[in-house]
Amino acid sequence: MPNVTFRHPEHGDRTVQAVAGSHTEPVLKLARRHNIPISFDCQDGQCGSCLVYVRYGVTKGTMAGPLTDREERVLLELGKVTQAEIDRMRVDDFPTNWRLMCQMVVRDEDLVIEYGHR
Ligand code: FES
Repeated sequence: MPNVTFRHPEHGDRTVQAVAGSHTEPVLKLARRHNIPISFDCQDGQCGSCLVYVRYGVTKGTMAGPLTDREERVLLELGKVTQAEIDRMRVDDFPTNWRLMCQMVVRDEDLVIEYGHR
């Protein structure tokens, strides 16, 4: 089962283990279950308040799932990705590092999720 390390510039690191079934729920739920204070609002890929920076495949290589359509739209609006990066991401099947926690699900890979910065 993958380890997910939540990293904050002031609170430091906290690593939790994603349990079976985590691959069907957003990382935001995993964070909330472990009382990780990630900001959120809509929980529906609309507001961008759950924006984080993800480092994939810390130990096993990258398996992260693609961005949702809502995630792409919000990341474009926030200026965190360009349309060219999204187009390339679709070809390379490799997601951007900026993600929305209410949209991203954990795959079988260790992650470092940096939050608390913009
Ligand atoms: Fe609104 Fe994630 S909580 S986009």
